[in-house]
Amino acid sequence: MTLDLGTTVAGVRLSFCAMNAAGSAHTAAEIRTLARSESGAVVLQTATAHPFLHPQFRSLHNPGYDKLLPFVREMAHDATKPVVASIAGATPEEYGLLAHAFSEAGAALIEVNLSDDWVAATLAPCEDTSVLGAVLHKVSAASTAPVMVKLPDRPRLAYGRLGDELRAAHVAAVVARNDFTGFEKLLLEGGGGFDIVVVGGIKSGYDVMRALGKGAKAVQVGSALVEEGPRIFARLAREMRIARGERPEER
Ligand SMILES: Cc1cc2nc3c(=O)[nH]c(=O)nc-3n(C[C@H](O)[C@H](O)[C@H](O)COP(=O)(O)O)c2cc1C
Repeated sequence: MTLDLGTTVAGVRLSFCAMNAAGSAHTAAEIRTLARSESGAVVLQTATAHPFLHPQFRSLHNPGYDKLLPFVREMAHDATKPVVASIAGATPEEYGLLAHAFSEAGAALIEVNLSDDWVAATLAPCEDTSVLGAVLHKVSAASTAPVMVKLPDRPRLAYGRLGDELRAAHVAAVVARNDFTGFEKLLLEGGGGFDIVVVGGIKSGYDVMRALGKGAKAVQVGSALVEEGPRIFARLAREMRIARGERPEER
């Protein structure tokens, strides 16, 4: 019997439980190639309200959200895969504006980037529950799509308090760093009530199996995708099937 490697994150059905990490596909060509791969979703690079260029915060370089909206409309129209829009703002209002624009354009999920260094240096939402609550409530109210939050690698707030804020704002999923102080501590102390997607160091089908075995619903792949290209998703699927005891000829 062929195993189902699909999953559901925040109520969104994905045909495969691995997807790209935000920022690992930039150009139109990369995004379209990813859309044709086995990736369970297409996650866009983080967008800000205005074009962002700052030598100190290179991971946030982007042309501004309005330049990415056409991709979302195109992919939502073609319905090849769910599109995940990643957003970052300097104020709760900016997060709300971006969540509204991308969800209206057809994004299946809104990934609220709270992990970027620029976000930590400006708004610092994971240091103060009132700022975090304001961001999450703005996004939840503005978005017509489910909301997923990408946490910093080391949030200053305790996971118990983070979990309370996430549940209060009806956040449906969380992206956490795939290590003990990220993923496992969130599992142990976060209180549940949301799906967990892990990111960081995913390179093989065995890495995916380990994360799912511990309770993640899906994984994201960054550096390994950049190195190997979108065919990595077919390899991850193959390795997962072998790890689960499916013989290659059964496919
Ligand atoms: C060049 C580069 C650009 C990135 N851009 C983003 C981004 O736009 N938004 C985001 O949330 N994370 C971004 N990241 C972080 C990745 O999404 C991911 O969390 C990180 O690379 C860890 O996963 P990995 O070990 O699979 O690479 C970026 C990382 C790199 C190396």
